[in-house]
Amino acid sequence: MLNKLTGRNKSEHKEVKHELEPSIENIPKHIAIIMDGNGRWAKKRGLPRVAGHREGMNVIRKIVSSSNELGVEVLTLYAFSTENWKRPKPEVEFLMRLPERFLSAELPKLIEENVVVRITGDREKLPEYTKRAVDNAIESTKNNNGLILNFALNYGSRSEIIEGIKSVYSEIDEGNIAIEDVTESLLSNHLMTSDLADPDLLIRTSGEIRLSNFMLWQLAYSEFWFTDVLWPDFSPHHLKEAICVYQNRQRRYGGV
Ligand code: IPE
Ligand code: IPE
Ligand code: MG
Repeated sequence: MLNKLTGRNKSEHKEVKHELEPSIENIPKHIAIIMDGNGRWAKKRGLPRVAGHREGMNVIRKIVSSSNELGVEVLTLYAFSTENWKRPKPEVEFLMRLPERFLSAELPKLIEENVVVRITGDREKLPEYTKRAVDNAIESTKNNNGLILNFALNYGSRSEIIEGIKSVYSEIDEGNIAIEDVTESLLSNHLMTSDLADPDLLIRTSGEIRLSNFMLWQLAYSEFWFTDVLWPDFSPHHLKEAICVYQNRQRRYGGV
C-alpha cells in the first residue's frame, strides 16, 4: 500500500525504522528540495509568516552540513519561485533579504566546508542587494570543489524551458546546428542547469504533493519523497530518512 504523503509503501516504512543511517554506497548525487511550509509553521505559533522564513533559513545550514557529510554532490534548494512575486511586498522583500542574511553569517563556514555556491534562476530581476550577496558568495567559493549548493532563486521551470527553446532556435537560425541535431541532451544543455546532472531525489516538505513549476524537465526520472513535516521542522534526521527510502527504491527508467 502506498502512503499518499510519503510516497512510501509499507515495506519502505519498515526498512527505514531499522536503518536510519543511509548506506554510503548509494547516496543520491543530486538532491533537490522544495522547502515549503514556513508560513504555516509561523501561523501555528501565532507568529508573522516571516518568522517562519527566518527559522527556515536556520534549517538550511544544518541540511547543507549534513548533505556535505553524507557525500551528496549537489544540493538544490528551491528558495523563491517566479510565482512568489505575487506575495505581499513586505514578505517578498524579506525573502529577497534572506540570501544576504544567510550568506553574511554562513559564508566563512561554507568556504571552510569547501562548498560551492551557485544560483539557478533569473538573476536579472533580483534586487541589487540580493545580487550583491549572491555574487559575492559565488565569487568567494568558485575555487572550492566540494558540495555544490545551488539556490533556485527566482526560478520557474516553464520559463526556463521557453528560454532554452529560444536559444536552440537561434543556434539553428545562425546555421550552427541543424534541426536534426535537436535532441534531449541538446535541450538539456540549453537549460540553466546544463552543467548539473538531473536530481536523483526530490524532497518536498509541508504535505503539498505538487511541483510548483520546479525543474519539470530535470525531474523526469527522479525519485520523489514527500513529507508532512514543515520546512522549519525539517532536520538531518528527515534527510537521512528520505535517503534511506531512496536507497530502497528501484529505479527502472522504463526497463524491467
Ligand atoms: C516556503 O514556505 C518558502 C517559500 C515559498 C519562499 P511558504 O512561505 O510557502 O509557507 P506556506 O506554504 O505558506 O506554509
Ligand atoms: C514553492 O512553494 C516555491 C518554493 C518553495 C520556493 P510555494 O508555497 O510557493 O508553492 P505553492 O504556491 O503552494 O504551489
Ligand atoms: Mg508554500
